[in-house]
Amino acid sequence: MVAAYSLWVGYLFWKHKGKHLLRQHTQESKILIAWASQTGTAQALAEAYAANHSEFKHGVLMQLSAISPERLKEFERALFVVSTYGHGEPPDNGRSFFKALNRTRRNETELSHLEYEVVALGDSKYPHFCAFGEHIDKRLNALGASPVAPLVKLDHSKGEETAALAQYSSASVAVPAYEDFTLIRRRQLNSGPRHPLFEIDLYAGHNAQQWQAGDILDVLPMNTSEEIARSYTIASVSSESHIIKLIVRLAIKEDGSQGLASGWLTQQLKINDTVKAKLHVNPACHLTLNNKPLLLIAAGSGLAGIRAQWMQAAEQQHTAPVYVLFGERTRELDDILSEVIPAQALNAANVTVKRVFSRCPDHPMYVQQALQQSKDALRDVVNNDGQIYVCGSYDGMGEGVHHTLIRMLGEEQVQQLTDSHRYHRDVY
Ligand SMILES: Cc1cc2nc3c(=O)[nH]c(=O)nc-3n(C[C@H](O)[C@H](O)[C@H](O)COP(=O)(O)OP(=O)(O)OC[C@H]3O[C@@H](n4cnc5c(N)ncnc54)[C@H](O)[C@@H]3O)c2cc1C
Ligand SMILES: Cc1cc2nc3c(=O)[nH]c(=O)nc-3n(C[C@H](O)[C@H](O)[C@H](O)COP(=O)(O)O)c2cc1C
Repeated sequence: MVAAYSLWVGYLFWKHKGKHLLRQHTQESKILIAWASQTGTAQALAEAYAANHSEFKHGVLMQLSAISPERLKEFERALFVVSTYGHGEPPDNGRSFFKALNRTRRNETELSHLEYEVVALGDSKYPHFCAFGEHIDKRLNALGASPVAPLVKLDHSKGEETAALAQYSSASVAVPAYEDFTLIRRRQLNSGPRHPLFEIDLYAGHNAQQWQAGDILDVLPMNTSEEIARSYTIASVSSESHIIKLIVRLAIKEDGSQGLASGWLTQQLKINDTVKAKLHVNPACHLTLNNKPLLLIAAGSGLAGIRAQWMQAAEQQHTAPVYVLFGERTRELDDILSEVIPAQALNAANVTVKRVFSRCPDHPMYVQQALQQSKDALRDVVNNDGQIYVCGSYDGMGEGVHHTLIRMLGEEQVQQLTDSHRYHRDVY
C-alpha cells in the first residue's frame, strides 16, 4: 500500500523517536491536535493518534470549529487532521475556521512561533484531492508558521486512511474491525426497472457492537480482489433485533454496467451469504435526543438515515414535533416511506410528513422546495433548540437543501447551527 501512508509512518517514527527528543521543553498544554471530519474518519484518526503518542496524550484535542486562527497563538505545535468534502471544500465542522483563516492577515495574527503538520484525508477520485488540507497548509505558512514535515495526503480510494487508523487502533482506542454479517432478507422497495432501490437486512449477531442512528456500515464487496469498501448509512437501530438495515440504490454506470458494491449487494448476493463489513462511527450525525423538535430531510436512499433517526427518537419516547420531508421520483412507482417506516411511527401524533415527487406531472417538487414551504416547521426547530438532519445525495439534494437553508436563515445562522451540532449532514 500506499506510498503516502508508508511515508507518513516512516516520517512519524523519525520525528517522534528522533527529532522530538530534542524538543522536550515543549509544554503539553502548548500542543494542539485539531480535526475536521464529515464522516468521522479524521476525528477517529486524530483521537487514536493522540492516545497513542505520549507527547500528544495531554495535548489539547478539539474539532476545528472550536478554534480560531487567533487562538493558535497559544500553541507551540499543532497537528491538523482534516478531510475534504463537497467539491474540494472543508467538512462542515471545518468551515468556520476556513473562513476565518482566509480573512486573517499576517500583520494581525503572526504565527511564526508555531510548528505545525497537516494530515489531509481525501479521495483521489475527486478532482480537488485533499484540497482543504492543502489550503490549511498554505495559509498557515503564509501566516509565518513552520511546517515540521511536508503535507501528508491519505487517499481513501487506496485504503490509506484505514491503514493509518489500524496502525493506531492498539491499546486505548479500539477501531472496529471487519466482521461477518449474514444477508437475511432483501426486497425491492420501488416498482419498475429504473433506479431500483432495495431494503437489505443483515444479521449482526447477538454479540455485535451497538450502533447509533447516524452511523455507517462500510461494506467490502466480495466480487473484486481489491479491498475496496463502500459506505452505507445504517437505517435501523441496534434494538431492532440486531439487524442492520440498509437502503441501497443499484448504481448503473455510464457504460450500462452495475456499480461494484451496489450490484453485488442488490443482485449477486444470496440469502444466507456472508457480508464482510465494519461499523463506522459517525459522531457528526449523532443527534442529541433532548425532546426538542426535529426536522428530518431526505430523498431516495437517504431514507436510510431518516429512518434510523426516526426509530431512535421513537424508542426514546420523543414527544416533541418531528417534521419529515421526503422526496422520490414518482408517486406510483416510488412511494416507499410506508414500506420501511412502521405505521406506529408514521402516524404518531407528533409526526408531520410531507412527501414530494420530482417527476409528478401535476406537482413536481424537490425536497428543497418543500423546505422553502415549511417555514413554520423550520422556525419551530430553530427557535426551540431543535435539530436538522439531512441524508441523501450531495449533488442536487444535499446542496439544494443547504442553499435553501442559507436563503431562509442566512449563512451565519446556518453556520451557528452547524457549529452547535444542530445541523447534521449525511450527504454523499
Ligand atoms: C457516508 C456515505 C453514506 C452512503 N449511504 C448510502 C446509502 O444509504 N444508500 C446508497 O444507495 N448509497 C449510499 N452511499 C453511496 C455508496 O457508498 C456507493 O457510492 C454507491 O452504492 C455506488 O457504489 P458502487 O460500488 O455500486 O458503484 P461504483 O462502482 O463506485 O460506480 C458508481 C458510479 O459512480 C461513479 N462514482 C463512484 N464514486 C464516485 C465519486 N466519488 N465521485 C464521482 N463519481 C463516482 C462511478 O464512476 C460510476 O459511474 C453512501 C456513501 C457515503 C460516502
Ligand atoms: C460527498 C463527498 C464529497 C467528497 N469530496 C471530496 C473532495 O472534493 N476531495 C477529496 O479529496 N475527497 C473528497 N471526499 C472524500 C473524503 O474526504 C474521504 O472519504 C475522507 O476519508 C473522509 O474523511 P471523514 O470521514 O473524516 O470526513 C468526499 C467524500 C464525500 C462523501
